Amino acid sequence: MNRGQQETSLLSPQDIAQAAQILRTGGLLAIPTETVYGLGADGLNPSAVARIFTAKGRPQDNPLILHIPTADWLTRYCVAIPQTAYQLAKIFWPGPLTLILRRNALVPDVVTAGLDTVGMRCPDHPVTRSIIRAAGVPVAAPSANTSGRPSPTTAAHVLEDLGGRIEGIVDGGPCTVGVESTILDLTAAPPRLLRPGGVTLEALQAVLGEVAVDPAVLRQMEAGERPRAPGMKYRHYAPRAPVTVVQAPPADAARYIQNHLEEGDGVLCFAEFIGLFQGCPAVSLGPASDPAEQARRIFDTLRTFDHQPVSRIWAMCPAADGLGLAVSNRLNKAAGFHILTLEGET
Ligand code: TXA
Ligand code: MG
Repeated sequence: MNRGQQETSLLSPQDIAQAAQILRTGGLLAIPTETVYGLGADGLNPSAVARIFTAKGRPQDNPLILHIPTADWLTRYCVAIPQTAYQLAKIFWPGPLTLILRRNALVPDVVTAGLDTVGMRCPDHPVTRSIIRAAGVPVAAPSANTSGRPSPTTAAHVLEDLGGRIEGIVDGGPCTVGVESTILDLTAAPPRLLRPGGVTLEALQAVLGEVAVDPAVLRQMEAGERPRAPGMKYRHYAPRAPVTVVQAPPADAARYIQNHLEEGDGVLCFAEFIGLFQGCPAVSLGPASDPAEQARRIFDTLRTFDHQPVSRIWAMCPAADGLGLAVSNRLNKAAGFHILTLEGET
């Protein structure tokens, strides 16, 4: 059977048994999570996992996260689990935190891209946890977008990228967090933030004290440099038109964009400033003071520019603290770290 030619079925949250069956038989199933939709497969089945890479066009050296329904599954797939893992799981799971831990031999190489560590996450979506429990296997799942595109936060986004290449999509409505999980490497000392996400750095520091921040979070990796999360080196989240991030207090950034806007440009701005950009394609990222709303909207807004012809995109960006660190990281990556930092004159 050529699965690639099949139609993708849209499943309702009630279709848990059918969804679990797709996973158990080696199929690809898009699942809702609180962060973004995941493209799931049986994480213990190497050929099912290999199909994820093909469907997404994902580089083979980029490892996948295993999704589990409860923290007590950690011992099934991980060894040398530090006490801090359970401490963090108790506070943040189910929720948008992925823990990098040493793996055992049950985890196939194709999941970890050959690394001796594995990312473990317990998603805060009851339907998805029920599906994983019913399937009885950990679910390997990257974000359910074509590699390089903005991550999907609705079933429609998944269909747009992967329709016809996967067996099913469980439609759980729009994602409530909107940016991917925070990735924390617990095999490093001190623990190291590899990707900012739905759990803030400040919240982790409150529990752990010192947390190192991987350089790939804040800047472009240079040739020859290897980030600890292989995925952080790739161009990512990018709409088709090039993005320029303007980093400055919101009113200054808005004025700068207004002064430099050319015919055909699009603007991604805070809600307060949308009136300044009437007559050109402008999309609101949400209020300047509400990074949670910005996180929910960021990927959908980046995708809207692929549906209207723009030659360049100017983007306003929140300060890099709290949830703003994750939002600014995604915007900076969408821009390929093409960032204008304004000081003084605009
Ligand atoms: O919120 C999320 O984490 C979503 C949902 C679906 O759960 N998943 C997600 O997966 O964002 P993905 O594959 O798009 O991003 C996973 C990131 C990649 O940058 C990858 O390189 C990194 O995690 N990663 C996975 N396993 C790792 C490991 N053992 N060591 C270091 N980084 C790892
Ligand atoms: Mg991804």
